[in-house]
Amino acid sequence: MTDAQGRRLHACARALAPGATIVEIGSFRGRSAIVLALAAPAGTRIVCIDPHAGSDRGPQEFAPDAALGDADTAAFAANLAAAGVADRVEHVRAFSDAPAAFAAVPGPVELLYVDGAHRYGPALADLTDWGARVAPGGTLLVHDTFSSVGVTLATLRRLLPDPAWSYAGRDGSLARWVRTAGGPPSWAARAADAARVLGQLPWFARNVLLKAVLLARLRPLARLLGHGPADGPWPY
Ligand SMILES: C[S@@+](CC[C@H](N)C(=O)[O-])C[C@H]1O[C@@H](n2cnc3c(N)ncnc32)[C@H](O)[C@@H]1O
Repeated sequence: MTDAQGRRLHACARALAPGATIVEIGSFRGRSAIVLALAAPAGTRIVCIDPHAGSDRGPQEFAPDAALGDADTAAFAANLAAAGVADRVEHVRAFSDAPAAFAAVPGPVELLYVDGAHRYGPALADLTDWGARVAPGGTLLVHDTFSSVGVTLATLRRLLPDPAWSYAGRDGSLARWVRTAGGPPSWAARAADAARVLGQLPWFARNVLLKAVLLARLRPLARLLGHGPADGPWPY
């Protein structure tokens, strides 16, 4: 998560009305959950869904590892406590497609932040099943859009063609979507929306190339693609 992305999470949470519900899918050790909890008005319900199975933790970390997962749970709890927000956040230690996760949030969601498994199947399921729970006028933030191949393909398949979603822009790879309210948008509005989404594809292609370059440790080539040491280990 970059600073700009943290500011975006903060602004989206701060703008919520009291009594709203935030769901975060993929909390890792609590960084984004803390931002959301510090910003959300009193009375906001904040539900963090993360199985902490040690799987899909980040780039190249796909396989489960129970010990790593337990360490993540402990670090998540400790970090929230250190930030003074432990009592504001409910952790559901389950995969986002588990019945326990859905049961934890029976009502509508005003802010959904998706940053769980980035593979195509789980990403598509998150955008479909959790996206459907976002209230009209609510916000969906999706990390690693136009950066992760799985997340981007799921976005193009699920969000782009759906008139229920309008693309509101991005901070790096943090894409922002709004669930439309007040009837379906006009064809002109949809066409403009689609053009803005498809306009991100050159940046997506650059990120895929950049990741290949970084994995091959070709740092000078990465710099040619605009990714220097200050940009961190991965394009976010
Ligand atoms: C990139 S990290 C999340 C980072 C976090 N949002 C932050 O900013 O600190 C991805 C997280 O997704 C979790 N995860 C993996 N598969 C998941 C799934 N099916 N449902 C929910 N969370 C999942 C992993 O356990 C990991 O903690």
